[in-house]
Amino acid sequence: MSLLAHSAEDPADSRTHLLTNGTAPHYRTAVTESVKRISDRIAGTARPFTGISVDGLTPTVAAVDLDTPLHDATAALDELEDVYLRDAVYFHHPRYLAHLNCPVVIPALVGEAVLSAVNSSLDTWDQSAGGTLIERRLIDWTAGRIGLGERADGIFTSGGSQSNLQAMLLARDEACRRELARDGASDARLTDVLPRLRILTSECSHFSIRKSATLLGMGAEAVIAVPADEHKRMRADALADALARCHADGLIPMAVVATAGTTDFGSIDPLPETADLCARYGAWMHVDAAYGCGLLVSRRRGLLTGIERADSVTVDYHKSFFQPVSSSAILVRDRATLRHVTYHADYLNPRRMAERRIPNQVDKSIQTTRRFDALKLWLTLRVMGAQGVGELFDEVIDRAADAWKLLHDDPRFEVVVEPQLSTLVFRYVPGTGPAQALDPALTDRVNLHAREALFASGDAIVAGTKVDGRHYLKFTLLNPETTLEDIATVLDLIAEHAGTFLAAQQQPALSA
Ligand SMILES: Cc1ncc(COP(=O)(O)O)c(C=O)c1O
Repeated sequence: MSLLAHSAEDPADSRTHLLTNGTAPHYRTAVTESVKRISDRIAGTARPFTGISVDGLTPTVAAVDLDTPLHDATAALDELEDVYLRDAVYFHHPRYLAHLNCPVVIPALVGEAVLSAVNSSLDTWDQSAGGTLIERRLIDWTAGRIGLGERADGIFTSGGSQSNLQAMLLARDEACRRELARDGASDARLTDVLPRLRILTSECSHFSIRKSATLLGMGAEAVIAVPADEHKRMRADALADALARCHADGLIPMAVVATAGTTDFGSIDPLPETADLCARYGAWMHVDAAYGCGLLVSRRRGLLTGIERADSVTVDYHKSFFQPVSSSAILVRDRATLRHVTYHADYLNPRRMAERRIPNQVDKSIQTTRRFDALKLWLTLRVMGAQGVGELFDEVIDRAADAWKLLHDDPRFEVVVEPQLSTLVFRYVPGTGPAQALDPALTDRVNLHAREALFASGDAIVAGTKVDGRHYLKFTLLNPETTLEDIATVLDLIAEHAGTFLAAQQQPALSA
């Protein structure tokens, strides 16, 4: 039945598609129908992916004539089955084990529906009213959980990369301000200071730190990679050495970025030692807790000890708070540092509004028009509570610990580190013949093949990464529904694909 069947309006009349007083019933029918479809699809997903190839799907998407509208939402959703829904990658499936994508909590989806329909924009009070106050409460709540103190503040962003970029921008501008205001630096110019700035971060930190340095005009070479220990945590002694070298060379360590939950290993850098070193060298301490922020509400909160000493913190609620994309924030210890992104525009947020203490969030953001993503977290906390979210994260961390034992005891695989959070980096080791066992190039090829073959089968999805230049596989566990049996099954599938590949490699040799 057409979604517009109830309506006497003409679907070719564009006005019937605008959400207004008069079309609210149409909106309700259309959204109810689409929610019903998605819930059926979610309930009936047998595999995380169909395994369709780029070449297989491209013609279907290309065949849609965007200049010939269907004038009917049901027909458009039917079409969407073919161009998207049937072959989408479903993160809620227990054998989706690849990237840092979580299944999402239902209260947040209710929030998503509300926020996109009301469509508040959080740049100014006069476009959001209560939305601004809700966002500010959540920023205060998060800063309180971190322990950033009375002067803390922050802003929701589109994701961890943007949060990291904004943190590096604030750190850069604070370093420049301090350097130019230093005694005896009255002749110093910004152009002399910028090339001397350095960011120190672990070799395992997220690439968005290097990208930020480039975007901020410092160049990726301004980032000094600090070696990690055997658990993939930044070595505090190496950081101390690097800072001392910077000092000796007349460079300015503008920021140290510690990661609380590295993307590949889930490792947490030594936060108290990093804070001590930042204090000694006057460097801005940023903690990238995009992944590890879920610890703020977990029974493992102690793993983040030291984060309360940071100057800024990145949190990605869309990773370990089970929120739909996008939902992230940057928190700062001293709200005054946010002035580095404050610009007043006569049409939007004139200075006089700030003087009258009208809360315009654009004063703290690098975006202007901005989604009310905070509403999703608000409804999540109001319905489930923080402890409920933490229990979900704790469960996947427990599962990763059990999975590590499984991998560790399985002679077909080798696993790199025992996880602190919920990732496992491992690889299949061909061990059936002496030549195979010793050939690193073959080990690379077999693991690359196993991952691709698994993806093409759609039975499960795992990620891949490199360790010391060699190819590895990665599980990222963020779904409490993933059982140890699921993990064992996926390991068997990987071994099966690897075995098939090895057998095919041996074929020419045997027939020769
Ligand atoms: C540690 C870390 N920081 C930052 C990011 C970037 O976050 P986003 O993808 O939300 O931009 C990621 C993404 O995986 C991450 O793992």
